[in-house]
Amino acid sequence: MAYTLGQIAAKEAAVQPTEPIQEIRERLSKAGSVVVLTGAGISAESGVPTFRGADGLWKNFRAEDLATPEAFARDPRLVWEWYNWRRELIATTQPNPGHQAIAEMEARHERFLLITQNVDGLHRSAGSRKLLEIHGNIWLVRCTACGLVEENRDVPIALPPSCRACRGLLRPHIVWFGEALDEKTLDQCMGALASCDVLLIVGTSGVVYPAASFAPIAKAAGAFVAELNLDPTPQSPLVDVSIRGRAGHLLPQLLQEGAAPDRQP
Ligand code: OAD
Repeated sequence: MAYTLGQIAAKEAAVQPTEPIQEIRERLSKAGSVVVLTGAGISAESGVPTFRGADGLWKNFRAEDLATPEAFARDPRLVWEWYNWRRELIATTQPNPGHQAIAEMEARHERFLLITQNVDGLHRSAGSRKLLEIHGNIWLVRCTACGLVEENRDVPIALPPSCRACRGLLRPHIVWFGEALDEKTLDQCMGALASCDVLLIVGTSGVVYPAASFAPIAKAAGAFVAELNLDPTPQSPLVDVSIRGRAGHLLPQLLQEGAAPDRQP
């Protein structure tokens, strides 16, 4: 969900639970293996629009016109124009303290995996390396003819883009609605979820599968599952701890070993 700064301040002023933060901190400090799952909310404070909610992308654009294989087959130029607009927007953004805190968490835990639904590349820019971008990456292009995947950071990308190897039409290397996730990537997610001690879910509405199934999978396997989000989600009743707040405010607090709970945003 996208918010104005005023709305965010009002939410944070309401209730700022601090003991749950302490509980997550303790669980993290004892965890042998940690998995973090992120969604658009973690990049909201960097200025990347989320998908759902009042100002979300899917309020102003129809996913079926822009983010399906059928839409691309029908009008590749329209789809590319939308991705060019998003590339332009994302190119001006920087990782925020939430991304940085997750990169720091990776440095502290030998067995660590970050699973992100985001395609903006900000986790990598923040230093995350044990990272699976399960919905792809906006800076990668894939040839619809030969399948070659390459990095392309042109902003805007010249239309229609063609493969330098075979001249085939390029598409964004992004998983669209109706498409399956890469099987090997999904296997890696499942392996990590089945064996993690802590799953931390940050800034996702928890309605898009398969990521929406990750909390119940980890919970069933015995993990402690925590959620950080501005709003309650369908996942909230399933998790052990659910905290309302900004990812960029809450995540750095998880790293403050032995710190007193912080009531200020
Ligand atoms: P959504 O836009 O569905 O959800 C964003 C979530 O972040 C909401 O639950 C907000 O309450 C929360 N949020 C917003 N700002 C926040 C902040 N500063 N701190 C913490 N939480 C905040 O985005 P996703 O769940 O990532 O798929 O959406 C999943 C997938 O649906 C996306 O990967 C995309 C989309 O269609 C593809 O593009 C394939």
